[in-house]
Amino acid sequence: MANRGNWGGKLGFILAAAGSAIGLGNIWKFPYITGIHGGGAFVIVYLICILLVGLPIMMAEIYFGKMTQKSPVGAFKHFESKKIISKQFYLVGWLGVISSILVLSFYSVVAGWAWHYLYLSFNGFSGTDAEVTSLFGKLYVNPYIQLGWHTLMMVVTVWIISKGVSKGIEKASKVLMPILFIILLGLMFYSLTLSGGMKAVRFMFYPDFSKIDAEGVIQALGHSFFTLSLGMGAMITYGSYLKKDVNIVKSSIIISILDTVIALVAGVMIFSIVFSYDLKATSGPSLIFKTLPVIFAKMPGGQIVAILFFILLIFAALTSAISLLEVAVSYFVDEKNWTRKKATVVIGLFIYLLGILSAISSLKIMNETYLDFFDNITTKYFLPIGGLFTILIFAYGIDHKAKMEELNLNPLVYQLFNWTIRIITPAVLIFIILNKMGVFKA
Ligand code: TRP
Repeated sequence: MANRGNWGGKLGFILAAAGSAIGLGNIWKFPYITGIHGGGAFVIVYLICILLVGLPIMMAEIYFGKMTQKSPVGAFKHFESKKIISKQFYLVGWLGVISSILVLSFYSVVAGWAWHYLYLSFNGFSGTDAEVTSLFGKLYVNPYIQLGWHTLMMVVTVWIISKGVSKGIEKASKVLMPILFIILLGLMFYSLTLSGGMKAVRFMFYPDFSKIDAEGVIQALGHSFFTLSLGMGAMITYGSYLKKDVNIVKSSIIISILDTVIALVAGVMIFSIVFSYDLKATSGPSLIFKTLPVIFAKMPGGQIVAILFFILLIFAALTSAISLLEVAVSYFVDEKNWTRKKATVVIGLFIYLLGILSAISSLKIMNETYLDFFDNITTKYFLPIGGLFTILIFAYGIDHKAKMEELNLNPLVYQLFNWTIRIITPAVLIFIILNKMGVFKA
């Protein structure tokens, strides 16, 4: 079989996996859902979800990858050959491949908005508040501009993936991630000097539990999942390029902490800016595309802050986009024996074409735009279902001895972990899935 590729080193793996996790989910979505759901209390629920749901599934996925040295479909085939699961479970692997294709098709369009805003920042935002806000609406109804940026985003993503695991993904992550950390820290320190800095810290970290409702809890659950790149086998794929000497528990904890810290820092930064200019935290998905630019137009040094902010967003999106493409590409390389080049170009082109649907906001399917439709079916159904089966197989299918050896936990901690993955994590996932299906309303 062709050489699948390997990470050059531990740091490379951690940065690539953190790069996958840290994305639009952290810088765009987390701040706006925190804003909608009232701040501190939502943040606490989110942290609990990361611990009880996100972290265990992350360990399970990396474990599957490292143990089988296969991408998701191959990994599940391996378990079938060991009589751990029956054949129907391949479906879970395929669901992952399908999810990765669907998610990337709209993710790239949204990342394209960030490219467009970077371009706008170079000219500087100016005009009345209404004029600056209307820029987003103009972009949203213009399929040609969105397609242009979507094209650029996909070309860069395909280019990186075509170079392979260590020369492509790892190298890109080693360049992009440190820059991302530096920009974010710089922006955070700057924003804390603004008048709204302390208010932002209070908003994010002083919980007021009267402000969170059931909908907020569901959002926190679902998001803890998406933000760590779980449920479609992305971490199985990245884990499959690991050599034997990497500690799964430690790596999972580091990746989760990095992802969480970045989301919190992005939140503090964005809310400092928003509160300094007395704007509302509750504006939803348009928080960074409508609210922030209004402030960028006014604040001292706003143009530089805007440029740095959108570079940050693009880098974050890019390292996530490559992980999405890698899931599908690795399937064709492992299972269909395609060369990496061929798989990357063919699948990349297919995803690109599919993305066109999301770039045309006037096209509708079942009363929603394709962007919302693909977003909803994947994040509400496909990913939680994928995650549920992953954790069930890990908790009930793999014997204790193998897990204890690999995870290397002290016996008491292992017991705690064992009951968490057997009961709590699946229960929470079933709760999300049933709720989204409308079986009961929270
Ligand atoms: N985690 C990324 C974000 O926060 C998105 C992402 C990348 C993802 N790869 C994934 C989500 C795989 C689910 C599964 O933006």
